[in-house]
Amino acid sequence: MTEKSCLIAIDQGTTSTRALAFDTDLNELAVAQIPLEQHFPQNGWVEHDAGEIWQATLKVLGQVIDKAKAAGYAPLAIGITNQRETTVLWNRESGEPLHKAIVWQDRRTAAACAKLAEDKSVAKMVQEQTGLLLDPYFSATKIAWLLDHVPGAREKAAAGKLAAGTIECYLAWRLTGGKLHVSDATNASRTMLMDIRGGEWSEELCRLFGVPRQLLPEIVDNAGAFGSVADGLPGAGLPITGMIGDQQSAAVGQACIAPGQVKSTYGTGCFLLQHTGDRMVLSQNRLLSTVASRMKGKLAYAVEGSIFNAGTVIQWFRDGIGLIENSADSEAAAVRAGTTDGVYLVPAFTGLGAPHWAPDARGLISGLTRGTNADQLVRAGLESIAYQTNDLLTALKADGAGSAKQIRIDGGMAANGWFAQFLADICDATVDRPQILETTALGAAICAGIGAGVWPDLEAATRNWTLDRRFEPAMDAGTRKKMTAGWDQAVSRCLLS
Ligand code: G3P
Repeated sequence: MTEKSCLIAIDQGTTSTRALAFDTDLNELAVAQIPLEQHFPQNGWVEHDAGEIWQATLKVLGQVIDKAKAAGYAPLAIGITNQRETTVLWNRESGEPLHKAIVWQDRRTAAACAKLAEDKSVAKMVQEQTGLLLDPYFSATKIAWLLDHVPGAREKAAAGKLAAGTIECYLAWRLTGGKLHVSDATNASRTMLMDIRGGEWSEELCRLFGVPRQLLPEIVDNAGAFGSVADGLPGAGLPITGMIGDQQSAAVGQACIAPGQVKSTYGTGCFLLQHTGDRMVLSQNRLLSTVASRMKGKLAYAVEGSIFNAGTVIQWFRDGIGLIENSADSEAAAVRAGTTDGVYLVPAFTGLGAPHWAPDARGLISGLTRGTNADQLVRAGLESIAYQTNDLLTALKADGAGSAKQIRIDGGMAANGWFAQFLADICDATVDRPQILETTALGAAICAGIGAGVWPDLEAATRNWTLDRRFEPAMDAGTRKKMTAGWDQAVSRCLLS
């Protein structure tokens, strides 16, 4: 029997490290997953152990390769996708991190960002070059914090002994035995150090944030022959041919590759991207401009709305306060509740992202009465994620993006039919759910396949995207207006607190 080929996607997310195998028709063959420990050393701080991430990557990679082989498939190439912005500083000789990774949700550099933003011309320059807003979300101030707080780090960096990068960069380095220090353009565009029009690191921004240029990787495409897995590791010799930040990867997996198309992914947070083609559109309404892809050196862009807490709301109900036993129970709870009876939950656990950008805001529940029950709180939590998505769409519309009447959803919460319908109702938009909900891993497999020559380009690779279910808006305008007005009021209270 001739072996069939498969593509391996490593998906290093905020809460877990996974590997998946897809055949070359993009059917999922196998998956392996290990949860990732979250560290919260102080209020608003979030860290990961990059060593733990590396060990988990080796394990899931080995497991998924074994499973694929057992099913008669030979791995052809590896694609890496990752939680973006999360920053690692490591020793170039040993590959060992000097400190825990600072996670994208971490707010420790809020004061540093606020100080820089006091000078309006600096904030404007940063937005014009990077498409981003001065917020601790992005990597630049995280790298500077590490250099300033790890004893001796600045001296070692000056001596060329250290390397910095986001998670795909760290994994590529380790998988190739330290041969490769590269970051793909989508991840690089989230550091706040890249001039996203030119596609290179900006000397001006490196100076502004105090990040030595020699710490940074080379910026590369999303698909290409980057390097291969070092001897002695699982998958030794396999080429790494795809690298892409997880939200851009989900956009590829959702076949959102043409101007105007919108996808919204519900994972730890919620990230809504609208493709803008080869035009970098600067938002006037506090959304971000970002690199959607770079293929054969050609950059494509998107406008992005980033919500920091979506799946974390369900996680908090389950693990934090025990209102539900399993995440899937949230759907039944919301249906049982029937209505929240005026209760709103604003999940600003780690501040608010787009369009408010309030790193110091914290969560709030309003409208409680003696009659409020647990199901209503769960429903208010799910509703908050739809309201936040609507806020992003409103900002997109104000930016002149047309009415954004159709969105493709994916991620864990997309499986919740009640949520998908409520989202369509509140956003007054058609919500499309694809057959494959593993869109993030799929995007990385597609990039790996393009890099390995399976498809010539994104258009060819995404041609078979298939709809599973369409949710049409069914709420009357008066009810929508009343409900969103209640939400707006709760958000303004949260911003005041
Ligand atoms: O920007 C952060 C984002 O990339 C994290 O994604 O899927 O881990 O919530 P996720």
